[in-house]
Amino acid sequence: MNIYDSTRMLDILRPLGYLPVHAQDDADLLILNTCHIREKAAEKVYSELGLVRQLKNAKARRGDHMIVAVGGCVAQAEGAEVLRRAPFVDLVFGPQSYHLLPELIGRALRRAGGGVLATDFPVEPKFDHLPEPSVQQGVTAFLTVQEGCDKFCSFCVVPYTRGAEYSRPVAEVLAEARRAVASGVREITLLGQNVNAYHGKGPDGRPCGLGGLVRGLACLPGLGRIRYTTSHPQDVDDELIAAHRDVPELMPYIHLPVQSGSDRILVAMNRRHTAGAYRRIVERLRLACPDLALSSDFIVGFPGESDGDFQATLDLVDEIGFAQAYSFKYSQRLGTPAASAADQIPERVKSDRLAALQLALDKQKRQFNEACIGKVLTVLLEKPGRHDGQMVGRSPYLQSIHVAAAAERIGEIVSALITDASANSLSGSLAEAVGA
Ligand code: 5AD
Ligand code: SF4
Repeated sequence: MNIYDSTRMLDILRPLGYLPVHAQDDADLLILNTCHIREKAAEKVYSELGLVRQLKNAKARRGDHMIVAVGGCVAQAEGAEVLRRAPFVDLVFGPQSYHLLPELIGRALRRAGGGVLATDFPVEPKFDHLPEPSVQQGVTAFLTVQEGCDKFCSFCVVPYTRGAEYSRPVAEVLAEARRAVASGVREITLLGQNVNAYHGKGPDGRPCGLGGLVRGLACLPGLGRIRYTTSHPQDVDDELIAAHRDVPELMPYIHLPVQSGSDRILVAMNRRHTAGAYRRIVERLRLACPDLALSSDFIVGFPGESDGDFQATLDLVDEIGFAQAYSFKYSQRLGTPAASAADQIPERVKSDRLAALQLALDKQKRQFNEACIGKVLTVLLEKPGRHDGQMVGRSPYLQSIHVAAAAERIGEIVSALITDASANSLSGSLAEAVGA
């Protein structure tokens, strides 16, 4: 979502004369678009700012001015702290304020004393005030359809940094998708912190769910593939499951975070689903779409997690079988309920559990990739690979696939016979084109 947000920031800055540059040194305006989800991500911002300060000083010595802005969720959550720790920062703005960038930059340019801080949640949705997205560069694109979250999992900062749930109207999403397809996009990934809580205003004025939105998008000629991320188990409804059964453009892949396999921990996390409910959802999805591949997020070392709770997570992994997954050590986030829990888990235990979980998940990923050898998979050719004459694309299951193909074929959906698999990618040889 930050990548998408950065492209939309560029859209609003272009009319002011700003263009992207490749070297930071050439920039008149440098924006760090930041993530606050775990402490590590937030700390990265301050170390990066150390380098930016040197850059800004060096430019100043040459008589050049550089505006430094910090956007995104770190700005939202600890904007005043950013200005305190890095007083050379001219502007701090939250994720709901980037449509105000022209005005904010104007204020930053005129600034007399401290930096400009813009972290209120504006009343009007930013999407109404952003210019149309500029021409797409590649054959795949992100499209934010939903933002914010009302779930309040007890470990998570998102409801505080991104604000309340908001869904863009169907017509707006379709218009943005149509423009993307017209500029060469063949695959769209619908984005939202809670994408399957999507309930945008439909053409009939009534709310439309994600399944309905997917069906609408699938009617756009030229759009070959649709994906979405990230989903919450509680919001997987019949309509979405039916879309996985009926819509060939919807890729057979779902990123469905479970976080833990222990009901006791899921309650403490305020996840609103049990491990059993998760298993049943997966079963229904697989019934509707037998080749569906699953991805997930896991947190280990949540406060109070016992060896037994962690074992329940390993059991769930074993039972479900994931094509790939992300796993994290629990990170205390100030202001979230779990941060003040008394029974925090020692770092060493967290590290051991993470290593054990990642071992299991890596093994499943390898097995999933190896099971593709000998199969014919469709590939959307995206860009040249590292070797001459080689192109890279993605399988329906989001695996990278390397094939020998001409560069003119970028943007085509071809089929490839998979001949080799490694931990992170597949390679194959081109079969016939299917729906170029
Ligand atoms: N600590 C560790 N991981 C977290 N996530 C969210 N908040 C935290 C936290 N405090 C993980 C969850 C979520 C993913 C985006 O980041 O697994 O699904
Ligand atoms: Fe955070 Fe996702 Fe929970 Fe919302 S549903 S609070 S974004 S982990």
